[in-house]
Amino acid sequence: MMSSSIIRKVRALPLQKIVGLQASRAFASSGFPPPRLFDYETVTRNLTVGDAIESVEEAFKALAKGKVDVPMPMHIGIDESDVAGPGDCHIKGGYVSSTPTFTVKLACVSFYNNTKKNLPPGSGIFIVVCASTGAPLGVFQENRFMTDLRTGAAGAIAMKYCTNPGQDVVGFIGCGAIAKNMARAAATVRPYKGIAFALEGAEAFAKEMSEELGMPFEVAASAQDLCRKSDIIYTQTTGGSTVLEKDWLNPRGVTIIASGSDQPTKNEIPPNVLAASKYISDLTKQTRKVGELRSALEAGVMTDEDVYAELGEVVNGDKPGREGNEIIVVDLTGTGAQDAAIGQVAWDKLSQL
Ligand SMILES: NC(=O)c1ccc[n+]([C@@H]2O[C@H](COP(=O)([O-])OP(=O)(O)OC[C@H]3O[C@@H](n4cnc5c(N)ncnc54)[C@H](O)[C@@H]3O)[C@@H](O)[C@H]2O)c1
Repeated sequence: MMSSSIIRKVRALPLQKIVGLQASRAFASSGFPPPRLFDYETVTRNLTVGDAIESVEEAFKALAKGKVDVPMPMHIGIDESDVAGPGDCHIKGGYVSSTPTFTVKLACVSFYNNTKKNLPPGSGIFIVVCASTGAPLGVFQENRFMTDLRTGAAGAIAMKYCTNPGQDVVGFIGCGAIAKNMARAAATVRPYKGIAFALEGAEAFAKEMSEELGMPFEVAASAQDLCRKSDIIYTQTTGGSTVLEKDWLNPRGVTIIASGSDQPTKNEIPPNVLAASKYISDLTKQTRKVGELRSALEAGVMTDEDVYAELGEVVNGDKPGREGNEIIVVDLTGTGAQDAAIGQVAWDKLSQL
């Protein structure tokens, strides 16, 4: 047994002496450089809709081939107290096989007390990590900008692969931040006539988008009016209630690209529309928990077997997109694959600055 005086001496030794010279060399050489910090202005000035679409399309291809590691999203609830909240922190991430980085992102939303401090209720960072060494390379202060870009990119990819070139009347139900990103990204697929409807903000959205994109936008009198006229319907409301009905849909065939539901409490598309559709998910293991599919499964009108495809399978050409005048629903909940893709492109571009 070691005497207590020996134990005291050993405890007083520096760690290197205890683990030996070999280990001390390894420690000294493991000093990674600190991650680079990119502020909001740098991020927003340098990343474009085009960057997002190109990288996210590749990520969907890889996702469908099982080449992306995408864990289920994590949520930390911050309850309100003298020192905290209320607020929610959503954590997503992923790794696209054979790419040089992986990404973890924190999206902090619904910090409603921030408005009393003259701060926005949401913020966010992406952490891009070297996939070779595991060392964090960059921290991107994006405050949802990169999330919005990658969300719009998924909307554009859904339009590119799940509509016909002749479908050029595009409705937007819900006209907030995501709607603008959908409208901008959709404009890269083809020119269209936009129709807007929302509880709030449709007029401002239509004016801003028509000026920015140089395409006509009108405000619909109702969601029904919008549905009757539209070939493609983007829904991006806050998901508190369903926003359209089956009878309202254009019988010539419609593609609904729904992105408002990303939580198990949300639902925009009625279960009977989902059941009647060629249903395409971004990631079925996720949409069955937090997307539109969840409510159709709960209503008992669909099973997992009724999922036609994941979007990446259509992008890869494994399954056709639009074939006739069917209803197509593309359920976009936002995947870690998209975050990994935009994280990679952000590092590639901004690390050169
Ligand atoms: N799928 C994804 O990848 C993804 C990514 C980010 C955000 N989201 C989700 O998208 C949704 C929209 O986000 P946002 O930041 O644009 O919100 P926002 O608050 O900026 O805009 C919401 C819009 O929807 C309208 N609206 C709400 N309920 C409506 C209803 N019943 N009928 C018609 N219009 C209605 C509002 O008036 C507003 O115009 C949220 O649920 C958000 O969580 C999804």
